[in-house]
Amino acid sequence: MRRRNVLTLLTVVALAGGTAGCGATSSGSSGPQKTILRLALNQTKEHPSYVALTSFGDRLDQATDGRFTIDIFPNEVLGAQQEILNLMSNGIVDLAIISGTQLENINRDFQVFNLPAVFDSVAHQTKVINDPEITRQLFTSMEGSNRLTVIGGFTQGERNLYTKTPVNSPADLAGKKIRVQESPVMLATIDAMGASATPMSYGEVYTAMQSGVLDGAENNEVSYYTQKHYEVARYYTYTKHLVGLDYMVGNTDSLHAMSEQDQAAFDREWTATYQEFNDLWAKATQEAIDGATKGGAKFVKIDTSVFDARLKPVAESFLRTDVQREIYAKTRKAAEQ
Ligand code: GCU
Repeated sequence: MRRRNVLTLLTVVALAGGTAGCGATSSGSSGPQKTILRLALNQTKEHPSYVALTSFGDRLDQATDGRFTIDIFPNEVLGAQQEILNLMSNGIVDLAIISGTQLENINRDFQVFNLPAVFDSVAHQTKVINDPEITRQLFTSMEGSNRLTVIGGFTQGERNLYTKTPVNSPADLAGKKIRVQESPVMLATIDAMGASATPMSYGEVYTAMQSGVLDGAENNEVSYYTQKHYEVARYYTYTKHLVGLDYMVGNTDSLHAMSEQDQAAFDREWTATYQEFNDLWAKATQEAIDGATKGGAKFVKIDTSVFDARLKPVAESFLRTDVQREIYAKTRKAAEQ
């Protein structure tokens, strides 16, 4: 799988005539220079992020008179998110949607936004990630060491557990292997809920659940449905342990290579894309519930208080630095306003 990804990538880069750090550029003898920004995504073409990013590409192309276009590579075809971060640091990939859990492995201040109960709702999360007073430093913090810039975020909505057998309490999770994203916060979260957390990349989860290596996973309804996980884990239980966050990340040099005018167009079109994504998200969530239910899934509401009590100390244990405590305090304050 990994080897195929690398081969695919090399072919893509060769075909596109890629230049590290500034997209793939070409200029015909007559026209102006065109830059193709390569965007890596681990979702299917049905996922709202693919849909919103496709129109982002179209609008960017128009707004820059064809100087910048976006080529989206969905389905993890260029690699899993951890690999994509390396490729993006090296300028081979220009843009990617990356889960916050992966960024905490580069700068642990990102852990704050991955903690259980840090966000009360998608609306609260939206307010926080669009407030530069809270996010500016964090979003530029990887530019020096990794050449990565955070452009903004897409919500992952509420993440919940899904399993092969019903779950009502921590006791039902004893000894169960539950897939988590490769992050210390996620490991601690799922362990605290009573399960045996098993880190694995997104694209491997279906097969691992099917073969019995895993007893379940955790994600939003949209991923549960679009990845077809409901076929192999029927019980989707509303544990509400996290309102997750994806980031739109770019290679810093690719972004800086744009003229001021094109950067302004990029920012404007990104804002519109963000709004489009949020509208699509609510609709996609309902469609996922309907589709998975038709496919045999059971969506179960439970009293979450017993899990909530176990998760509170997890959040507290990860707030270790002044920067983390400051981001956390500002984030919680935003929930009250
Ligand atoms: C969600 C999220 C992805 C993430 C995935 C995962 O689908 O949008 O960015 O990779 O969860 O659980 O790995």
